[in-house]
Formats: sequence, C-alpha cells, structure tokens
Amino acid sequence: MTDKVNFPPISATPVKVLFVCLGNICRSPAAEGVFRHLVEQKGLEHHYVIDSAGTYGGHAGDLPDQRMRVHAIRRGYNLTHRSRRITSGEIEDWDVIVAMDKNNIYALQSLCATVEETRKIVPMAAFLRCHPHNDYVPDPYYEGSQGFELVLDLLEDACEGLLDYIENSILES
Ligand code: 4NP
Repeated sequence: MTDKVNFPPISATPVKVLFVCLGNICRSPAAEGVFRHLVEQKGLEHHYVIDSAGTYGGHAGDLPDQRMRVHAIRRGYNLTHRSRRITSGEIEDWDVIVAMDKNNIYALQSLCATVEETRKIVPMAAFLRCHPHNDYVPDPYYEGSQGFELVLDLLEDACEGLLDYIENSILES
C-alpha cells in the first residue's frame, strides 16, 4: 500500500508528523499516543515532533473521548491531548500529515496553498501491513467497544508501518 505514498523527501530532524481526523477526540489523538509510544520505545523521541488535530472544531479544548481513553489506557496509552482544529497556516509547518479517512483528506486538501503542501497528506491506511483489506480508519464515535478496539488495532499496525517508512526514507536521502 505504501506505493501510493509520495510525500516530499525528509532530510532534517526532528521529523514533524501530524495526525488528523474529524473531531480530534477519537482516532487522531489515539494515533498520536500510539505513535509517540512507539517512537519512545525505540529511543527516537528527540527525532520527532508529534501532534494531532481535527478538521472540525466542535470539540476544541476537550480531552479525547472517554471511551477512547479507556480502551487506550488498557493498552498502555495515556491520552492527554486537547482537541483542536487544524489551520491552513500550519500545513507548511509539518513534514507528514496523516489522515484517517477520505473525507479528512479532502478537507485537508482544501486548506493547502500549493501542490507541494498537498503531497504531505497521506492516508493512515497506506501504512497498514496486517490489515490489507482496510483502506481507511473508521470513525468509532457511533460504535461500541468493538469499534474502538478495531481503531486501536489499525493504529498500532499503521504506526509501525509509518515509523519504518519514515526511518527508511531518512536513511535513503
Ligand atoms: P474522530 O471521531 O474524528 O475520530 O475524533 C469523531 C468525533 C466527534 C464527531 C465525529 C467523529 N462529531 O461529530 O462530534
């Protein structure tokens, strides 16, 4: 799936990675927590700046959804991010912007000022290795426990793929 990924070359550290979903209270703060945990496990925390944001600002200032926090903490992820809406001005600040689904990608593309900026946007599902049939990370907001568990399964898989992909692209540049 990473053959669809074509973000601009990354040569400098820290690598700045932003995860984006709709409300920034379920999927993207969980992605941020999973990715941060992985980066820390590998001793790479000084090489990355990691954050998340939403394309919709209705939950701005909120902690992640209580259900997501409960499911995440069981796997060792303590989610303390406060929801915020992405701004068009910040696109240029990030190296990689990882979107959870197609609607997030369209909303992000509408904020980009240049083609170069649009190239930073990649689908999270492109980095899945153990879930080849999932082509997006589904919104769990109206789902039960299984929806939140599925999101965390997908995020753990994709975060490993994403980190390997970035580390390999740094080595090759
Ligand atoms: P998220 O989930 O995009 O994964 O944070 C949602 C959270 C809130 C809403 C939709 C999706 N909402 O419509 O309020």
